[in-house]
Amino acid sequence: MTDSQRHIVLAEASAVLREIGSAGMRLHRLCDYLRQYVAAYDWVGFYLAVPGERVLVLGPFSGAPTDHLRIPYGRGVCGQAAAEDRTIVVPDVAQEANYLACSVHVKSEIVVPVHYHGKLAGEIDIDSHSSDAFSEQDRLLLEELALECSELVNEVAPGGWYPPGATGEPG
Ligand code: SME
Repeated sequence: MTDSQRHIVLAEASAVLREIGSAGMRLHRLCDYLRQYVAAYDWVGFYLAVPGERVLVLGPFSGAPTDHLRIPYGRGVCGQAAAEDRTIVVPDVAQEANYLACSVHVKSEIVVPVHYHGKLAGEIDIDSHSSDAFSEQDRLLLEELALECSELVNEVAPGGWYPPGATGEPG
């Protein structure tokens, strides 16, 4: 994405986040918006931190259902991003040893931590069916959105609002 595309997506995504609704619904709408409007984003979701258990639980998401409802810190790209508390970009998932496959179609992934008052509250996780889909522009966009999501993510974590086995719609 170009610099100007990033600014447009950021403005629209921020407006989506401000729409009325529960924290879970607002995060879910953001996932839907990003998946619909950014061509390379094929699965967009939140993992919510349960720091006492050092585990992530699946939160609001948009895309195909995933088997990965609970991910211990350190496991897979999401768990590694939580353990190291940093953004991780995987340009080619086939080359990543510590990777939990969601779908055979996924070629690249980005995971961006969300903080609340300096502590890890969750993550934004995005999968793409294209390889090397995530540039510096994507990282900047998602790190900015992670700041804007901070309170909402904290409100739905820990434990997660999302019932295992559901399909991405808020309960
Ligand atoms: N691929 C992730 C697992 C979560 S799914 O992408 C939704 C990982 O390696 O942590």
